[in-house]
Amino acid sequence: MSEARMRRREFLTKGAVAVGSVAAAPVVGVRGAQAAAGRMFGGVGRGQLGLVGCDHVGITVPDINHAIEWFEDVMGAVAPLTFGPFPAGAFVASVVDVAQTASIDQITMLRIGHSANIELFKYTAPDGQRHDMPKNSDWSGHHIAFYVTDIDAAVEYMVGKGVRKMPAGPFTLTAGPAAGQTIQYFQTPWGGYIEFISYPDGMAYEVPSVKPLWSPKLNGMDSVVTSVPGLLGIDHIGITVPNIDVAAAWLEQNLGFINPLTFGPFSDPIGTFMTDLVDVNPRAVVQQIRMLRGGNGPNVELFQYTSPDQDQTFRKNSDWGAHHIAFYTRHIDKGVEYLQTETGTKLFGPVTLTQGPAAGQSINYFENPFGTNIELISYPHGMAYQSSAPIPLWDPRDNHPQSQPGPAS
Ligand SMILES: [Fe+2]
Ligand SMILES: [Fe+2]
Repeated sequence: MSEARMRRREFLTKGAVAVGSVAAAPVVGVRGAQAAAGRMFGGVGRGQLGLVGCDHVGITVPDINHAIEWFEDVMGAVAPLTFGPFPAGAFVASVVDVAQTASIDQITMLRIGHSANIELFKYTAPDGQRHDMPKNSDWSGHHIAFYVTDIDAAVEYMVGKGVRKMPAGPFTLTAGPAAGQTIQYFQTPWGGYIEFISYPDGMAYEVPSVKPLWSPKLNGMDSVVTSVPGLLGIDHIGITVPNIDVAAAWLEQNLGFINPLTFGPFSDPIGTFMTDLVDVNPRAVVQQIRMLRGGNGPNVELFQYTSPDQDQTFRKNSDWGAHHIAFYTRHIDKGVEYLQTETGTKLFGPVTLTQGPAAGQSINYFENPFGTNIELISYPHGMAYQSSAPIPLWDPRDNHPQSQPGPAS
């Protein structure tokens, strides 16, 4: 019996099994639930928002060229779009809520597989920039999870590439509504977290009456634009939030998300399983995990943690370890107006780029109570870089099975 399997058994016998409920109690009340259902099923609000699905996850990294090389070399990413710089001043400060002295030196968009893209940022922020990376248990904690068809083969590949693999894994959930998923966490050389997930036969929560989470499996089982065996693309983006009820309600009420899977808690009161699984303090407790779906694209996985060393602050976009999640909207003006009416937390925008390789994209950031900016993005006629890119970025409007990468229609 392997060490990991022994730990798994120990972990389960300590009572730290997955528990939870498919039908989580509604936190938004009847009217909120009705409104969310209206949006979910094509009601007025959802129509105004025009949400297609997750377009990309943005992360601020210490050394952007190193990160690009790592994603290219280890994961087989392509990097067809690099743009910037955007100089320090009132414009950048108001679009992404950073100090007026902070500049964006470079933005590079990566594609891996047939799902949402990764947007890397390099910032210079002379008036303060955090250089420590968040743990998964911190309020700024986050990870990017990729679906793989054969998790043992994919993990073996990553280990062969010298990637730091968390010792407890691959770990299979065998109880509760998430039973059927197997996960493995890795740490990137700059301190970020990547997860591989596989659920070849689905998960226990998937019964006919429940509308399921999105999966990159819906875009086909072919592994394209990657060097990781069997990798399909981003499955979800995990973020740690101060209050999981508040964060879930924000996504449900404002963006029309659904929440078909809720599970947890997880802890290991005696041993080091939490450290070995997700690289947090051994006494850290995952109080609850909720998986939410918005349109067609990677899901958002919300975590609520307690931990003796929990950092209860949010990052600025100019800090290392900062992150945001962007959703494609069909009509940027209508989408922004709708979300602003709902939330009142819009930053400056919508901003449309008219020059350079990203010309054609319009964006707007929104703040919220959980510290991960939500961006709306649209590029109805594509972006300038596409005319010369052999393999374009993934386009969330292209969510259908396709075996070969090709230009977005
Ligand atoms: Fe973005
Ligand atoms: Fe995850």
